Amino acid sequence: MNTYKLLTPGPLTTTDTVKQEMLFDHCTWDDDYKKITQEIRSKLLKLAHVSEDEYTAVLMQGSGTFGVESVITSSVGPEDKLLICANGAYGERMEDIARHAGITYKIYHQAYDKVPSADRVAEILDADPDITHVSMVHSETTSGILNDIESVAKVVKSKGRVMIVDAMSSFGGVDIPVADWGVDFIISSANKCIQGVPGFSFVIAKLDELEKCKGKARSLSLDLYDQWKTMKIDGKWRFTSPTHVVLAFAQALRELEQEGGIEARNRRYTENNKLLIKELKELGIKPYIDETHQGPIITTFYYPEDAHFSFNEMYEYIKERGYAIYPGKVTEADTFRIGNIGEIYQEDILKVAGLIKEFLQGKSGR
Ligand SMILES: Cc1ncc(COP(=O)(O)O)c(C=O)c1O
Repeated sequence: MNTYKLLTPGPLTTTDTVKQEMLFDHCTWDDDYKKITQEIRSKLLKLAHVSEDEYTAVLMQGSGTFGVESVITSSVGPEDKLLICANGAYGERMEDIARHAGITYKIYHQAYDKVPSADRVAEILDADPDITHVSMVHSETTSGILNDIESVAKVVKSKGRVMIVDAMSSFGGVDIPVADWGVDFIISSANKCIQGVPGFSFVIAKLDELEKCKGKARSLSLDLYDQWKTMKIDGKWRFTSPTHVVLAFAQALRELEQEGGIEARNRRYTENNKLLIKELKELGIKPYIDETHQGPIITTFYYPEDAHFSFNEMYEYIKERGYAIYPGKVTEADTFRIGNIGEIYQEDILKVAGLIKEFLQGKSGR
């Protein structure tokens, strides 16, 4: 099979042992299967540092966006108003979700290379008492910036509002003490830092806020409250569950534990990321986000200055030699992105940096 490793922010390269779990066609309603779902839910709470008395985990069919849409459209009621803090495409997607559902919202736009400011959120909340909920992305995969959800959540809680965090590309790879930071709903998906395969998202929700979602959902299949009510009984999913993906995810969680938990995984990702930035800087390729705010998941790089450069040509060159990278997503500059999560190690980073060097030297005829 002609394969390559993914240097993308998910789906990402998974282990063979995770993929092997998908060779079994599991029955959805038998007790063994339901038990697996319950174990996953309980492990997710541990990773989030929350107790079962205060929080619960709900798994939702579909990709990450389905999870975000489920939370927003199930928790922000007809009398409520949502403040969206956006510094990238995934913050802006929350606006799209709100618009589609007819939810009343305000958006606080921040530049893509800056983090939303907790002081500004405080001012907006003081000026607009109608705002009941605040949402924000943690790792904005558009650029790779890591937003300061701790400071923003502190303000949101001190002003008595509900905090929603999209931690799609950070949960499992960056430690998030969900209860201590005052997050009410946090969303991620199977194919990111836990290193499973795509097919479902998950929500860790504060129980008292989840109870308030009853009857508010704008759609049947994305009703977070109803999904929870069914799943909490014995682990049965409300509609057909992605059985193969669930088995793979259970294995991915075991492998996260074997690696040494979030702390060890974060260390590996951070080291990958630092090495990548160092190696590319040596080739004259600069990162778009400054060092203080650069997250450990994915990096946006400016195109090299003097090279006559086609991203597609470089992409093909690298792909043929075993790695897939990503085009840029920021709007105001020519950039490309390299993710360093998944089954990716320092040797992969060195290889890809070597390939970029080779490609650029070939271009300049050096
Ligand atoms: C921060 C963030 N939010 C939301 C999404 C959307 O997830 P999906 O493409 O799985 O729907 C992504 C995808 O990469 C993401 O990185």
